[in-house]
Amino acid sequence: MSPAIGATLNRVDGRYKVRGESRYSAEVPVPNLAHAVVVNAKVASGRITSIDTSEAERATGVLAVLTHRNLGRVANVPRLLPSLAGLAAPGQTFFPMQDETVHYGGQPVAIVVADTIERADHAGTLIRFEYETTPATTLLDQARDRAYVPERIFGGLLPGQGSRGDVAKALAEAEVCVDATYRFAPNHHNPIEMSASTAIWDDVDRLTIYDSTQGPNAVQLTVAELLGLPPISIRVVSHAVGGSFGSKAMVWHHPTLAALAARHVGRPVRLVLTREQMFTSCGHREEQEQRITVGARADGRITALRHHKISLTSPFDDWAEPSLQSAAVAYLNPNYEGVYHLVRGNTITPTFMRAPGEATGMFALECAMDELAERVGIDPLELRMRNYSDTDPESGKPWSSSGLRECLQRAAELFGWHDRDPRPGSRREGQWLIGTGLASALYPVTQPVNPQRAKARIYNDGTAVVEAGVSEFGTGVFTAMTQVAADALGLPVERVRFVGGSSNLPNITAAVGSAGTSAVGSAVHVTACELRDQLIRRAVGDDHSPLHGADPARVEVRDGKMVLADHPDVGETYSDLLHRTMTPDVEVLGTWNPPPQDAGYGIHTFGAQMAEVAVDAELGVVRVRRMVGVFAPGRVLNRKLAHSQLMGGMLWGLGQALMEATRMDPRLGRWANASLADYLVPVNADAPDVVVDTVEMRDDVVNPIGIKGVGEIGVVGAAAAIANAVHHATGRRCYELPITLEKLL
Ligand code: MOS
Repeated sequence: MSPAIGATLNRVDGRYKVRGESRYSAEVPVPNLAHAVVVNAKVASGRITSIDTSEAERATGVLAVLTHRNLGRVANVPRLLPSLAGLAAPGQTFFPMQDETVHYGGQPVAIVVADTIERADHAGTLIRFEYETTPATTLLDQARDRAYVPERIFGGLLPGQGSRGDVAKALAEAEVCVDATYRFAPNHHNPIEMSASTAIWDDVDRLTIYDSTQGPNAVQLTVAELLGLPPISIRVVSHAVGGSFGSKAMVWHHPTLAALAARHVGRPVRLVLTREQMFTSCGHREEQEQRITVGARADGRITALRHHKISLTSPFDDWAEPSLQSAAVAYLNPNYEGVYHLVRGNTITPTFMRAPGEATGMFALECAMDELAERVGIDPLELRMRNYSDTDPESGKPWSSSGLRECLQRAAELFGWHDRDPRPGSRREGQWLIGTGLASALYPVTQPVNPQRAKARIYNDGTAVVEAGVSEFGTGVFTAMTQVAADALGLPVERVRFVGGSSNLPNITAAVGSAGTSAVGSAVHVTACELRDQLIRRAVGDDHSPLHGADPARVEVRDGKMVLADHPDVGETYSDLLHRTMTPDVEVLGTWNPPPQDAGYGIHTFGAQMAEVAVDAELGVVRVRRMVGVFAPGRVLNRKLAHSQLMGGMLWGLGQALMEATRMDPRLGRWANASLADYLVPVNADAPDVVVDTVEMRDDVVNPIGIKGVGEIGVVGAAAAIANAVHHATGRRCYELPITLEKLL
């Protein structure tokens, strides 16, 4: 039996998905269901001075109209903690419809519940609001003078600034200096499945929510705190989730609003956000600007890095995506200063969005590196090699594993980097200017802080079920967990089933920061190994077993049969043992305790990106012709799934580089393009030839299965490689994303 890990196993849920049989949260059949529609504030700042709900209340089919006057108060809004702590994780520390204040455009101001969604939607248009408005801040440029340096950012996880060495002195003494400012449009996640919650009260204090989430346990704990109920009152189920990218990592208002509405009308209530509401209800990547100053010697060696970010956050929370984290440690660099500056604006609190922080932070660094390469006349690849650090420049500790140089080298081979003419504008094919660019990719390996648990049960027919509270939002985690459990138990994958997607299962952190599969995978591995070892101990202690008296350490399991490692013909199957001892099943609850955060290593994921673009010399249209991405994510659990994730990330980076932007209309304080028709993401016609490869490096430090995660690293550096290629093609540097054609005319 060959190991399941590393092999390609098709998605265990793939068949159900392609046949349309998977049950998403808005599709679970529920009898006597009522439908809720949220009504949003049409102003961005001010207060509601009057509400007339009478017409809406009289409309056909309407069961209730809820506003701040009759919704009821929430018990307690938990602190803003990332789901990664396995705790309550609200999207923001503000809960709407508690008073008449309006803090941002699109803030929920009413909920209509009716017997059909159409009737609820229609009645929502009949509510008359009057507002007293106050001036709103919706753009960074409106309020730069009010910027402040927060004590902590990112839900309190990271400090607002950091430094080492003497950056001012080193910059003053630098032989070469690149100083550039990069601007980033706000971005929205746009998963195919809109966020949805179906709330069912069985009794006054027994609530089930079918919710579209990255963390059923986090939803359970957050809603419990908001409603003032113990967690035992609430069960959250998430059978299938249609994409997320960070929009369903934190717990936004809709599950709690659905629960409150359901309690009010005494019926199950379903609340599905509209596509437009997805732009104001689940966070976004914030509008931001980053200034990078790199000091170097004439030979290209970096002597100093100053990295400042200014971004727009909400009135309530000091949120900034952690854009300075990886850039700070990407290269050997003794003098460093990184500072986050925040401006409070009239917006929902921003949130995680795929490659949170590094999609933007590494863009800035890697574009500045390209400029440095040009200034010192060194090939961009060679410049990265020259500045490679085999220790974490922040802590001085060795990397648990790196692979940056191997990834750069492998990408160069696959791409054909080495015969590149470095002169910008040196290649032309008809009307097309051709250019190539590269970038390093780094993403932190985030470890959960709390123990991760799983449950494993083997039946006397030799099949096993393994469970943990993780949800499947398209990453393939249920498939990968089937493989991890199968290998640990010594069973073929067909005899193992993984079950997740419920808060009744062992608590697993919400899957964020590329840490989902490593967290649940480690718990599943530890648990399945414990179950296997328990069965081996039973066998060697049983005088009727052929393994009686054997050293348990010398017993291994192959295809469900426990055998002596040296004499594989001696042994018995799990099934034989369990039948003989009249045991229907054996179950264990296992715990993985993540390593301490201050272990003796720097822990990061590395990769390399290369891109070739063609820019229309007259029209400024940019077409990406080829992309190569090579990554070192530790062990690869499933080649097909990992490559899909990485390729998806690279195409996400293409979108970031050329298309994705949410445009604020400052007059109204509302997004001007809150639809999939107006918010552009790459489609197949935009997708170039994408080559993905991995460099597998053993890492025994990160976790027992040696994986670092593939969810975000594929995004990082892709946009920079494209922007650098655009410069190589045209001689023009673009300092603002997305690079739309008017910027090249
Ligand atoms: Mo991921 S953007 O941290 O959910």
